[in-house]
Amino acid sequence: MKNWMIRQEGYVEEDIPSLGNRYLIGNGYLGIRGTLEEYEAKQLPAINLAGIYDRVGDGWREPINLPNGCFSYLKVDGNIYRLPEQGAKAHCISLDYRHGIFRRETTWHTVRGDITLQTDRFVSMTRTNLIGMRFRISADFHADVELLTGIDCEVWDLNGPHLEHLSMEEYHPEEGENAGESVLLVQALTHEEHIPIAVAASVQTVTPAEIQCTVEGKKILHRICLITKPGECAVVEKYIGVSTGKEREIPVQEAVGTIMAAKASGYEWCLQSHVERWEELWKHSEVVIKGDPIANEAVNYSLYHLHSIAPRHTESLSIPARGLSGQTYKGAVFWDTEMFMLDFFLMTDPATARVLMKYRIDSLKGALEKAQHYGLQGAFYAWESQEGGYDACSDYNVTDVFTGRPMRTFFKDKQVHISAAIAYGILRYVEWTKDESLLDIEGVRTVIECARFYYSLLLQPLTKERLEIHDVIGPDEYHERVNNNGYTNRMAKFTLDAAVQVIEIALKNHTLPQGYDAKALMEAFGKASRMLYIPQPATTGDKKGVIEQFDGYFALEDASLEQVRGRLLHEKEYWGGAYGVASHTQIIKQADVVTWLNLFSEEYDKDTLRANWEYYEPRTEHGSSLSAGMYAMLACKIGEPDRAYPFFLKSAMADLQGGGKEWAGLVYIGGTHPAAAGAAYMTAVEGFGGISLTEGGLTVQPSLPKSIQGMEFHIYYEGTEYEVKIEGNRGTVTAL
Ligand code: BGC
Repeated sequence: MKNWMIRQEGYVEEDIPSLGNRYLIGNGYLGIRGTLEEYEAKQLPAINLAGIYDRVGDGWREPINLPNGCFSYLKVDGNIYRLPEQGAKAHCISLDYRHGIFRRETTWHTVRGDITLQTDRFVSMTRTNLIGMRFRISADFHADVELLTGIDCEVWDLNGPHLEHLSMEEYHPEEGENAGESVLLVQALTHEEHIPIAVAASVQTVTPAEIQCTVEGKKILHRICLITKPGECAVVEKYIGVSTGKEREIPVQEAVGTIMAAKASGYEWCLQSHVERWEELWKHSEVVIKGDPIANEAVNYSLYHLHSIAPRHTESLSIPARGLSGQTYKGAVFWDTEMFMLDFFLMTDPATARVLMKYRIDSLKGALEKAQHYGLQGAFYAWESQEGGYDACSDYNVTDVFTGRPMRTFFKDKQVHISAAIAYGILRYVEWTKDESLLDIEGVRTVIECARFYYSLLLQPLTKERLEIHDVIGPDEYHERVNNNGYTNRMAKFTLDAAVQVIEIALKNHTLPQGYDAKALMEAFGKASRMLYIPQPATTGDKKGVIEQFDGYFALEDASLEQVRGRLLHEKEYWGGAYGVASHTQIIKQADVVTWLNLFSEEYDKDTLRANWEYYEPRTEHGSSLSAGMYAMLACKIGEPDRAYPFFLKSAMADLQGGGKEWAGLVYIGGTHPAAAGAAYMTAVEGFGGISLTEGGLTVQPSLPKSIQGMEFHIYYEGTEYEVKIEGNRGTVTAL
């Protein structure tokens, strides 16, 4: 891996799903999996749209994959050349992850000589609805070439088909510079809400060619016929415009308008402005890691993914747990955004951080309804949030591999720590940016309602002078319905305190929503926060310093990870739930107490932090990509960057290396891992770089692992951009 480029030589069919993720390109509005142009639905191509969902029958509600406007294949002397049917002499794909450009180069051997197809494609960072593609075809003989390129309406869906009333047509604009040109147009309506969608495609040939429109089953294509000369390269450019009824009343106008405008500017211009925008993004966000090229590449590759899925095109939207890599995890937004990704945007692109948090404020209604559904008060945010805060998490989120039956899971009902993540995100935004505009009436209401939610969950045991929270699932999903999960209780306390703080701000700014009694709320939340039980470190014995993850955790079987793994009867078996191998043991899925201590490390001494790290790490399966980053961060806070390093790399390489879990029971959960990417950023900048907010403001206290000699990056704080330079253990922060 060199020069911001990853490459994959050769063709291995089994790699198709993971390469689709690793070579993803996107612009926050849509993502395109890194699949070859000739792939059909079974090879998992996807043009995955952000923030637009659909449900068919009893299937899961999931985001839409669009008709594949990138579809193309080659015919030479009348024979089809495409992978994998026609084995190639040489084949490689690459991704320029500095500029979001996917490339492929394939050479086939034909009876008359060799022919090479090169393509590149990008999803424009400057024109939201535009995808650009360029084909270069060269042969060492006079090849009679047909390039078939257009739109494939056979869409890969997990729980589809989502698109109905599908029409394919050739269209000729009557006016403007491009009057008379051939545009391929696909229109459809989503199944549930009949949202119109449109995909338009048009080509421009640099080499003289004959172009006709043709239909092959569910594909509408341009057949571009040309003859290549030895030593010369035939070039075809393709513009794809997409739009939906979510943004435009008549999406077809936008789809066609986008490609016409792009065509008028020319491919090179579109590409250049896209590249320049990426350069601009890197100016504020590149993390230079000196002395360790692997870490340097891995971290910036992670940031590439975060940039590619950032919803910059709108004012209110969040990022799904699997980014825009397909329909897995229902395209839903989890606590991943606030607790793992938000810091990257706060520090490099605060405007996008605002968009993310605005989505939560705008989906408060869904959270209020969810709380009401459970007989609770306040805002209980969706565990798997789709638009409007609709909770896509089902009561049966895992399929039992042995019986094929749906398994009752309680993520949706009991993972109550989600609402605290929203309060945390909003407060962190205000803390870093000092932009209180997010705390308008609705922002204030959101934080207060999150606090009211925890208030309504509090229980007072008859025999104890304290408040508790029972029957929850903490970040470790393998132990369901536990009492006093430390992470949850501490985050609930944070939320109660946050509400008090926000009410004070609201009183100052006159943004308190009507109907709230500020004094009564502050008193109630303040008292609840003081009385809420926070599990404490053991004071004696072999567990001295360790905090019990939840009531009764220490009494569970203390089996080793190997023992527990050895009890699996099926490789895809679910470890949690009623009969899971981990449920009755101390083996946990992911960082739990460690996530809590990382967030509130200043409340504990280093020995306590270390004791918990040492206790929980060997008992953690790291079955979620969210886990490693938290261990890395806490190791930095204990002053052990070298122990942090492998966890940091694991997080930074979650998509580069793959190997993450692809299955939960029988459900496919593959895709990209933006939360791990966010955690890698936090570890680099806040962990190794030691960037934090102290009473004195922004501080830098580096603690670099052996392999890293220095670092350079920029961060935003309170609206000012700073340059941070670190050499060894010395850091400087300079306002720009
Ligand atoms: C983890 C959750 C996470 C979700 C989405 C699950 O496997 O346990 O903590 O939010 O994946 O990334």
